[in-house]
Amino acid sequence: MSQTVIDLIEADHRDVEMIFEKLKRQPENRPALVAELAAKFVAHARAEETKVYPELAKAKPSERGEVHHGVEEHHEAEELLAKLMDADPDKPEFMRTLEQLIKAVGHHVEEEETEILPAMAKAIPADKLVKLGRVFSQAKADELATPPKPVGRTKQELVDQAKEKGITGFSSMTKDELIDALSD
Ligand SMILES: [Fe+2]
Ligand SMILES: [Fe+2]
Repeated sequence: MSQTVIDLIEADHRDVEMIFEKLKRQPENRPALVAELAAKFVAHARAEETKVYPELAKAKPSERGEVHHGVEEHHEAEELLAKLMDADPDKPEFMRTLEQLIKAVGHHVEEEETEILPAMAKAIPADKLVKLGRVFSQAKADELATPPKPVGRTKQELVDQAKEKGITGFSSMTKDELIDALSD
């Protein structure tokens, strides 16, 4: 039996959880592990956003809100990932940021595995889920083959989003303050 997109997504989640464990236990390998995590996380998230989530939104329009929420959670995790990449692996800030990232990703993975993936299993026929698995893998491979872009939103993107959400006082906020205000 060929693997469905759901099997592949769940396998990626277990892989990321393993990288988190290694990040905690192997301080000497942290720079390489953070780079591996960032590349895999971003490729997985973009492939979900461009190839997988839209198929669910099409098959079951009532899941649109859930899908939109999933994309926001990817962005939040990517801000933390960017912070982790900047942090000195030997300083306490690294572990603090890692714990925040593990919590954010854990929350998203749980929602995906209890809401989004089961909804897909119900709404999309099995043979299509297998085909979608191939599309998902190809999108990830394409993303991994392109040179890495900076992870996280730019200050201008954050300001634009703050304006859109009607957040006041954004013009005097730092990047971290904008990220906090947007995640409230
Ligand atoms: Fe995922
Ligand atoms: Fe996701």
